[in-house]
Amino acid sequence: MDRKSELQATVDALAQAGKGLLAADESGPTIAKRFERIGVESSEENRRAWRNLLLSSPGLGQFISGVILYEETLGQRADDGTPLPELAARQGIVPGIKVDKGKIALALAPGDEVTEGLDGLAKRLAGYRQQGARFAKWRAVYNVSDKLPGWAAVQANAEALARYAAICQEAGVVPIVEPEVLMDGAHSMARCAEVTEAVLHAVFHALHRHAVVLEHMLLKPSMVLPGKEAGHAAPAEVAMQTVQVLRRTVPAAVPGIFFLSGGQTPTEATVNLDAMNRLAPLPWRLSFSYGRALQEPPLLAWRGDAANAAQAQRVLLQRSRLNAMACLGQYDEAQENAAG
Ligand code: 13P
Repeated sequence: MDRKSELQATVDALAQAGKGLLAADESGPTIAKRFERIGVESSEENRRAWRNLLLSSPGLGQFISGVILYEETLGQRADDGTPLPELAARQGIVPGIKVDKGKIALALAPGDEVTEGLDGLAKRLAGYRQQGARFAKWRAVYNVSDKLPGWAAVQANAEALARYAAICQEAGVVPIVEPEVLMDGAHSMARCAEVTEAVLHAVFHALHRHAVVLEHMLLKPSMVLPGKEAGHAAPAEVAMQTVQVLRRTVPAAVPGIFFLSGGQTPTEATVNLDAMNRLAPLPWRLSFSYGRALQEPPLLAWRGDAANAAQAQRVLLQRSRLNAMACLGQYDEAQENAAG
C-alpha cells in the first residue's frame, strides 16, 4: 500500500460511526498517580497487568476503534505471550502511540509550558511502526489565567504540533493533534472559549504552513468548560460553546474530532459529548478519546486484584458503550445503571 492509502485506511478504521478511542498512554509518573489511588504499586508488571486487562476486554472492539499506548506497553506481552499491540489489533482496535516527551516550562514565559520530543522523532516512528503502531499522539497543554497562555506559548506549541504531524504523515502514521486547554483554575467559560479559539486558530495555521494533509489527521481538543473552581455548566451550554469554537476554527476536511476528558467525571464527559452530537448535522465526526473518564470506573473495580479482572472489564465495556451512544447523540441516563 502506498503511504497515502495507508494513512486513509488508518483514518477510516479510527473514525467509525459510534466508536471512539481509549487513551491508555499515561507516562510513568501519571500511571503511578492513578495506581496510588487504589493502593497499587506502579511496577512494570502491574502496569502490564492493567493494560493487558484493558486490551483483552471481551467485545471492546464494538465501541473502541483505537487505543493510545505508552512506549513501554508497545513492547509488553499478554499472559499467553501475544504482544499487547497485537492483542488490541485482534479485537479490531488500531494500536497507537504517544510520541511526545512531555512538557517543560517555556523559557522566559512564567506559567507557560511547551511540549518537547521532536528530535529523533522520524527514527523513533520507524521503530514504533514495526511494533504495530499506526497512529500517534502529541499533547500540548495551555494553562489559563487572565494573562495565560501568552502569545509565545500559543505559537511555540502550534509549531511543534504541526512539525510532529508532518513527520508522522511522512512516516505513514496518522497524527492525533492534541491541544489541551486545562480546566485547572477559576476562569470563566467565556475565557476558556476565547483561549481555545486562539489556540485552534494558531494550530491550523501552523498545520497549513507545514503542508499537513487535514484529511489524514485527527484533532483531540478539550471541551469549552468553566475552570474547575468556577463551578459547573449545563451540557447544552458546553455543547453550544464548544461547537461554536470548533466551527470557527476547524476545517471540515478534518475527518474526526476526538475529545479528551480532562478531569470531567466519567458521566459528565459522556453527557457533554452526547449534547454536542444532538446538534447534528456537524461537519466532522465528534467522538471521544478518553483516559480518566474511561479508565477510572474499571480501575476502581480492579484495585490490583486479578480476581476482580472480569468485573473491571465489564465496567470498561459498559462505560465504552455509553460513550459510543453519546457519539450518536443517543445516550440515555437510564442506561448508566444497566447491567454491563
Ligand atoms: P483524559 O481523558 O484523562 O484527559 O486523558 C486523555 C489524554 O490522552 C490526555 O493526554
